[in-house]
Amino acid sequence: MTKVKVGVAGYGTIGQRLADGVALQEDMELVGIADLVPSLSIRALRENDMIGANNVKYDLYLVDGADPAAFEKYDIPVAGSFEDLCQKVDIMLDSSPGGVGAKNKLIYEKLGVKAVFQGGEANSVADVFFHGYANYEKGVGKDYLKLTSCNTTGLIRAVDCLDRLIPVEKVAITIIRRVADPGDYHRGLTNALQMDKAPSHQALDLMTIMPHIDATGILVHTPVTHGHIITVLVTPKEGKITKELAIEAFRKHPRIRTVTIDEGFKGNASLFKYARDLGNRRGDMYEIAIWEDSVVESGNDIMFAINIPQESVTIPETMDAVRAAMKMQLTCEEGTAETNKYLKIGRFK
Ligand SMILES: NC(=O)c1ccc[n+]([C@@H]2O[C@H](COP(=O)([O-])OP(=O)(O)OC[C@H]3O[C@@H](n4cnc5c(N)ncnc54)[C@H](O)[C@@H]3O)[C@@H](O)[C@H]2O)c1
Repeated sequence: MTKVKVGVAGYGTIGQRLADGVALQEDMELVGIADLVPSLSIRALRENDMIGANNVKYDLYLVDGADPAAFEKYDIPVAGSFEDLCQKVDIMLDSSPGGVGAKNKLIYEKLGVKAVFQGGEANSVADVFFHGYANYEKGVGKDYLKLTSCNTTGLIRAVDCLDRLIPVEKVAITIIRRVADPGDYHRGLTNALQMDKAPSHQALDLMTIMPHIDATGILVHTPVTHGHIITVLVTPKEGKITKELAIEAFRKHPRIRTVTIDEGFKGNASLFKYARDLGNRRGDMYEIAIWEDSVVESGNDIMFAINIPQESVTIPETMDAVRAAMKMQLTCEEGTAETNKYLKIGRFK
């Protein structure tokens, strides 16, 4: 099997996990990772002899502006420059800080390399704003794809799942958003909730990818780091989405884990702890969780709450994006099934 050659730009919260995701895909090869500074994530990789997931060696390349002496100081081996990496790959996964991807794109264009960007980039960076389930086919063969943000990725999974059951007309959401990732200090030590102006970008993004649905929503930042919670109110075009129908559809979806409060899943922290108990790398969970005991009917509408593990939720859909861009599989069903197989998604079903 000829493997698709993949590189990762930016070995931060998302980049570490993208590298692991690629290392687990048996039909892809992780050629290397690139970064600017010897961050703690890179120093931890060095301490593990540059070995990442699936026992794969992660070769490190330096982006423009990086100081080689800073890496030498920690005895971190460097395999070459960013352009060296780009020349060896079929596709780059760009998880550099928001806005930097647009600058890196100039290099991708110059070298004729495809790329998948993350949610912090402007939509204009890509040919297609992509989601593995809602619009896989639009990404097939395209050069530049942009993933939805963590909240939007999980939200679309749930809404698309119901939309396939009964066409959805309207969605209204409230996002209770974790303010930073574990280990971050840049938001300070806080004890406050902060309002965003409505409508939230996640609702607008949902409409860009699923234009047949009218969506709006409100976002509240909360001083926690382990997962966002979104409450979702879904209105069908006609008919009624009953609680039983919705739960049955959610239970069947490979990337949705249905849980209950009675089992002990009291909130975001229970899910994070459960992922650690599973032995998942870094306590990651690729699935969103839906609390079955949060699903309620309101007239013909249905309302429920989902948990979004923000650090890992976009990884499967990014693997789908590689599959679409590289024409590895031509349909959503085949592409998502391959990603799920290698990431062992749905093994708990
Ligand atoms: N953190 C999350 O929960 C989350 C979730 C979904 C999507 N995203 C998106 O993913 C992207 C990355 O976010 P993150 O949280 O992983 O950021 P991060 O700050 O954790 O990591 C960014 C990494 O990029 C490196 N970098 C800096 N300049 C670079 C350059 N010129 N080229 C390559 N790498 C460079 C940094 O040193 C750092 O290691 C953003 O678009 C963000 O919006 C983040």
